[in-house]
Amino acid sequence: MPGSDKPVSGERRSLRDRRAGTERRAAKRRSGVDRRNEAAWQPIALDGAATGALDDTALVAAAVDAREHARARYSGFQVGAALETDNGDVITGCNIENATYGLTMCAERVALFKALSDGRAVFTRIAVVADTADPTPPCGPCRQLLWEFCGDIEVVLANLSEVKRRLRLSQLLPLPFDARLLE
Ligand code: THU
Repeated sequence: MPGSDKPVSGERRSLRDRRAGTERRAAKRRSGVDRRNEAAWQPIALDGAATGALDDTALVAAAVDAREHARARYSGFQVGAALETDNGDVITGCNIENATYGLTMCAERVALFKALSDGRAVFTRIAVVADTADPTPPCGPCRQLLWEFCGDIEVVLANLSEVKRRLRLSQLLPLPFDARLLE
């Protein structure tokens, strides 16, 4: 038919473009250019050599020190975090609040973003410290982001005088939504 090689209608073309976009994104995921580090999803033995050079005491002490820098004038609740990399380096964070409240950033995410922006990619543990009798676990958004970028790391919860809990992140986020579901 003479008209069959004419450009398809605007509506059909945009559908085709959309399909091409979806395919490009899927190809990018398959090509390994993906920003997510699948190696980090593998569990790391809690008592094995892979847990890095520091013991809990030093990691918790780093979080205690970082907590001193907390900008928590609205809640008065100061938190420190210390994230350990696979080679034993420690990147710290504290919570940072502001007058709009909603833009508050938790200590865990400050540590995580510092580490990621420094090019760190593989993590083994995070210590979280607050001045509370009960342990202070990471909030929901922090759990999600720690899972995304750190995988099933160990989470050490402490107050100023002792470690209260040691858990796997998967215990805090048992049914995660993550990149595997987008494959
Ligand atoms: N906060 C953290 O920094 N980490 C946590 O694990 C729990 C909560 C902060 C956010 C806010 O600045 C204050 O603690 C009170 O919620």
